[in-house]
Amino acid sequence: MIGPGLRKSSFELCGRLAYNLRVSGPFAQAINATTRYCAVYGYPIKHSASPAMQNAGIAELGLNWRYLAFEVHPNELREAIAGAKAMNYIGLNLTVPHKLLAVDIVDEKHKSAASWGAVNTIRFEGKDPSGEWRPLREFPDSPREVRSHGFNTDADAITRALREDLGVEPAGKRVLLLGAGGAGRTAGLKMASENVAELFLVNRTQAKAEQLAAEISERYPNARVKTDYPKTNVDLVLNATSLGLKSTDLLPFDESRFSLRQTAAVYDMIYRPAETSLLKAAKSAGCHTANGLGMLLYQGARALEIWTGQAAPLVAMRSALEQNVYG
Ligand code: ATR
Repeated sequence: MIGPGLRKSSFELCGRLAYNLRVSGPFAQAINATTRYCAVYGYPIKHSASPAMQNAGIAELGLNWRYLAFEVHPNELREAIAGAKAMNYIGLNLTVPHKLLAVDIVDEKHKSAASWGAVNTIRFEGKDPSGEWRPLREFPDSPREVRSHGFNTDADAITRALREDLGVEPAGKRVLLLGAGGAGRTAGLKMASENVAELFLVNRTQAKAEQLAAEISERYPNARVKTDYPKTNVDLVLNATSLGLKSTDLLPFDESRFSLRQTAAVYDMIYRPAETSLLKAAKSAGCHTANGLGMLLYQGARALEIWTGQAAPLVAMRSALEQNVYG
């Protein structure tokens, strides 16, 4: 039998829990019926630092929003995007392996998504009475028609990280790019689009380097691309291989064919560990260095700007990211 006393204490318990959630989390407001949602989909997803970073940004902006993470199998990506759209989510981020698949799923592609052939950010948009598509944040009630609009914020994050974290402006520079996988392809195309003076492409599987060089030359006919190590000095070495993730990994280049004394700066797209053996060796050789955390930050910051229409609070987001990744 549940007496009034018991009812009161469980009521107090719920109140205490809500209070604790309110004061212990970074959010000014507890979740309620007007809370709006964003999420990241990946497969796997447990490693993702995006919820920590984005929720810190959301809290700093004082929004009654939350950013969630879901493990979505690639076979169910279409349904998962449709589900978020049906529930008036503000937007989504997509990570491995969904970025290429989503290009054919979104209702509308922003030029960034079309240009890089990948979608890492979706903004849901509603049709207003005049027939214009506007971000869902502007609709307090569900609009009759909603569409998914796909963007890519990864490519611009590479150049922003080079500029802001390493002080390197790619235009007119000689760049050695290591790796021709997914990250290497985006980096190579982005470097060519930024008018680097010369791009040297090196990859374990030479055929993939050749294929990327051909794609770059087709899209940027004026680009000077070689699939070999540079014989003289370069301004920047960009590591887009996965070598360095493990502490036992060798350097991602052939030391008999290239020396770190030939470059002024080294950017490693890897951010965990914070200092790869490449970055350690580069520091010893006197190079300027930066790791890939900035890329993660800037792609997320741009996504938040696309959803909110406001400048992303970079300091809060960077600090949450560092706390999440490095403890
Ligand atoms: P991502 O999407 O992160 O770029 P990816 O497409 O699998 O992942 O690419 C991984 C990159 O790291 C490729 O350039 C890969 O070289 P291959 O194209 O020859 O596979 C490179 N890589 C991975 N392991 C490597 C190793 N042990 N030695 C040299 N390069 C390696």
